[in-house]
Amino acid sequence: MKKNLGATNALYPMPIVVVGTEVNGKANYNAIAHVGIIDHKTLSISMGKIHYSNQGIKEHKTLSINITAEDMVEEMDHVGKVSGAKEDKSQIFNSVYGELKGAPMIENAPVSMECEVIDIYDQPEFDVFIVKVVNTYADEAVLTDGKIDFAKVKPVLFDMPKFGYWKLGPRAERK
Ligand SMILES: Cc1cc2nc3c(=O)[nH]c(=O)nc-3n(C[C@H](O)[C@H](O)[C@H](O)COP(=O)(O)O)c2cc1C
Repeated sequence: MKKNLGATNALYPMPIVVVGTEVNGKANYNAIAHVGIIDHKTLSISMGKIHYSNQGIKEHKTLSINITAEDMVEEMDHVGKVSGAKEDKSQIFNSVYGELKGAPMIENAPVSMECEVIDIYDQPEFDVFIVKVVNTYADEAVLTDGKIDFAKVKPVLFDMPKFGYWKLGPRAERK
């Protein structure tokens, strides 16, 4: 018999991404686990309205999504705990730009996507940014046969109930 835990969101672990934006002319990064896939190129990113980043995203209508690797967990954790309203986070990572203004990407993240905001699902406490992926940049070192190989990316996953980080395990092979 399963125990009923009430209305508990059990959809974990989720990959953590670091969202890049520009606020008041400076790069700002924060950690986000509540990212969804709407279709192959359309994603949702749920960000508390209190976050500093939201101002920049609303101004530029762009953002970057960076998959940070296991060896970047300290920096990812830091930008996920301290707000840009309290600390200048522009130098935590080296920023690079692609085609879009206002969407700084993390130079040493193995994978970065630059995205355009096409809609905002306005919730009482959250701005859910609906974004289209415009370009995806991947370090050659994480590619196998030209495709992103997540065993090489080594993403960090997040578990909200226990507020912990997880590593990706081996592939579950089919017979
Ligand atoms: C692992 C992790 C995951 C997080 N996921 C989310 C999330 O999905 N949505 C959200 O609004 N905040 C999330 N946060 C909190 C923000 O990253 C944090 O409040 C950050 O300091 C906001 O930065 P800003 O004010 O500079 O935008 C997460 C934090 C951590 C450490």
